[in-house]
Formats: sequence, structure tokens, C-alpha cells
Amino acid sequence: MKKSLVALLFSAGLMSFVQADALEDRYNRTCAVCHASGAAGAPRTGDVDAWNKRLEEKGMDTLVANAKNGIKAMPPKGMCFDCSDEDFKALIELMAKPKS
Ligand code: HEC
Repeated sequence: MKKSLVALLFSAGLMSFVQADALEDRYNRTCAVCHASGAAGAPRTGDVDAWNKRLEEKGMDTLVANAKNGIKAMPPKGMCFDCSDEDFKALIELMAKPKS
């Protein structure tokens, strides 16, 4: 009885973090593989200048399309096979933010 109450409270607490965590989690499993280190010339996560340059030159819609279709050394969908356009946009925004 006590145990299940603890489990319930624990999962309720987790729920409130699920949204942000799901994005981070997804990022860690997919884009981070290349974008954390800048492998093969990928713009690095937290490199605000590199991302802003691409965002200014091409715009968010093109970046989302290129993430989906692949570009040069980047494979189509960047390993996130169930990502929607919205997900790609959120992931790009996450990578374009200064690293905290
Ligand atoms: C296998 C390595 C790899 C993975 C995984 C990867 N990328 Fe990339 N990505 C690259 C490389 C390399 C480039 C640079 C391409 C170039 O030369 O312009 C790039 C460039 C990009 C660009 C810029 C495209 C442009 O038009 O300038 C976006 C946006 C992007 N990646 C999004 C993502 C997202 C979102 C994910 C995760 C869902 C992801 N990438 C996963 C390798 C990767």
C-alpha cells in the first residue's frame, strides 16, 4: 500500500518533466551522435553562430527539410525515424541554443 503510493507520487513527479525530457532524450539518441562533437562537419550543438548562420541563410523551413531529406554527410532524418516536422524544428532549436 505504502509502496504503491510512493510509486504513484514518483510517476506524477516524473510526468511534469516528461515533455522536456522526451526532447532531450530523443536528441541524445539521434542528433547528438554527430552534432555534439561536430562529426563530419555537423554544426555543433550550442554553437550559436554556426546555427544562426544557417538559419539566416536558409530559414527554418529549409533546415527542417534538409534534416528530413539529408544533406551532404548527414543521413536522411538524422537517425530520428519517427520525428515529425515539429520534432525536427524543436531539435534544431535545442541545438541552436547556447549550451547552459
Ligand atoms: C550521422 C551524423 C548526423 C546525425 C545523426 C545528425 N546529423 Fe545533422 N548534420 C550532420 C552533418 C555532417 C551536417 C553538415 C552538413 C553540411 O555539410 O552542410 C548536418 C547538418 C544539419 C543541419 C543543417 C542543414 C542545412 O541545411 O544547413 C540540420 C538542420 C541538422 N543537421 C539537423 C539534424 C537533426 C535535427 C538531427 C537529429 C534528428 C541530426 N541533424 C542528426 C550529421 C548528422
